[in-house]
Amino acid sequence: MGQLAIIGGTGLAKMDKLLVVRQHKIDTPFGKPSAEIIEARVKNKTVYFLPRHGEQHTIAPHRINYRANLWGLQSLGVTEIIAVAAVGGIQPNVGPETIVCPDQLIDYTYDRAHSFFSDDFLAKHHIDFTYPYIETLRQRLLTAAQQVAIEMIDNGVYGATQGPRLETAAEIKRLAQDGCTLVGMTGMPEAALARELGLDYACCALVVNWAAGLSGQVINLSEIEQVVSTGMASVEQILIQFIEQSGLD
Ligand code: HPA
Repeated sequence: MGQLAIIGGTGLAKMDKLLVVRQHKIDTPFGKPSAEIIEARVKNKTVYFLPRHGEQHTIAPHRINYRANLWGLQSLGVTEIIAVAAVGGIQPNVGPETIVCPDQLIDYTYDRAHSFFSDDFLAKHHIDFTYPYIETLRQRLLTAAQQVAIEMIDNGVYGATQGPRLETAAEIKRLAQDGCTLVGMTGMPEAALARELGLDYACCALVVNWAAGLSGQVINLSEIEQVVSTGMASVEQILIQFIEQSGLD
């Protein structure tokens, strides 16, 4: 088994319970990752941590160098990734503060570097993506949540939008009709790039608002901030439990 990494999203630019061992400043054939990759210990287990939006949350979803992030993690020996994301809730069972482990996604993003293969593409590079998240990793994450008695919804369809603006009410209606449970801006191409590299990948999504048009009001960013800070504390608890069980000694 290789190493475990957490990719932190909005509200999780660092994890206080991690004991930092080293910071890896990495360059890849695709440029630099969003930040130095933190190598840390949790109760004698090693874990790597990378904040997707940069240390100060200055990198917008469409400007993230997803390829450098995944390549950089793999270059350190990472084989498993839990991707944390703050998302909007579309279906009635996923209101603010709900934590979800999606099992499917739909990609609405565009103009992002979504493959490691460009000029050197071969037929064998068409990855299978029927199930975008690795089921065994999802189950281990759900078990960790159960062990710390935090509810985590099993299954859901993550709709990945381009951003950085939030959606219109009509766009959310369309996503709902398509079968989306959640909407976020960073789920793709991250998941597909992980698959291209053969990395196991699962998502831990925290719902921070009702998606556009669903609450009867416009989206209030300060309310989102509130939910992010309380909800990410629960997400962190799940992650620490997960690392304690999964990380390498
Ligand atoms: N839409 C897209 N991305 C998001 C949202 C949303 O409503 N909330 C948090 N990330």
